Amino acid sequence: MAITTAKLRLGVNIDHVATLRNARGSAWPDPLRAALLAEAAGADGITAHLREDRRHIRDADMDALRAGIGIPLNFECGATAEMQAIALRLRPHAVCLVPEKREERTTEGGLDVAGDEARLKSYIAPLREAGCRVSMFISHDPRQIEASARIGAAVVELHTGLYSDLHAEGREDEAEAELNALRAGAALAHSLGLEVHAGHGLTYDNVTPIAAIAQVVELNIGHFLIGEAVFLGLGPAIEEMRRLMDLARAG
Ligand code: PXP
Repeated sequence: MAITTAKLRLGVNIDHVATLRNARGSAWPDPLRAALLAEAAGADGITAHLREDRRHIRDADMDALRAGIGIPLNFECGATAEMQAIALRLRPHAVCLVPEKREERTTEGGLDVAGDEARLKSYIAPLREAGCRVSMFISHDPRQIEASARIGAAVVELHTGLYSDLHAEGREDEAEAELNALRAGAALAHSLGLEVHAGHGLTYDNVTPIAAIAQVVELNIGHFLIGEAVFLGLGPAIEEMRRLMDLARAG
């Protein structure tokens, strides 16, 4: 299968606009307004994670995003019956399944598709039938990639959190090894017919080598962009990420 060199898509995760809103129990800042600004700034999609505990995005936000944005909505959730019912009602463009633990601050590690293969295969079947592109948020472990292909997922999103952490800690040799594993994972996933996405912990400083992986066609980026928006404004923060992604792709 030919490797695509298509423009890399940027999915903007707006969860932490809701985090800020919920910190004061007010109605602002409004995640839908952020999503519309992101769309205007060139985002190719909006990602929102409805967690079981509703710590940031809430059900009403998902409804507002589904009705209000003109670009694809990527509904991120745990593989629970409750979330499946919401996804089937919303029918977003994509459903990204992630592992979810109540006590974690953010999504730690990837989904264990290999260890839960039969259940996940039947879990995603109605989502596929409803026309959603189902994505598995996994590590670069070949077992997880192969299991994702076997169950009929359309997409894998490779978890870049460990690479991002190692890079931030200046552990460059280990970051490079992790990067190589991500590259190999992207190549394997692509060879199995999976669309390859990547995300978690990406910043202006660490995005370039990830954006340069030819098989990766979408990055999902949230926390850093929302933080940077405090200083630059959301539109300029996204435009700078877009510029760096395009540069990595070109060179
Ligand atoms: N992709 C997935 C599947 C995620 O769970 C997250 C975090 O919610 C992201 C991307 C974005 O990560 P970050 O907020 O660190 O950019």
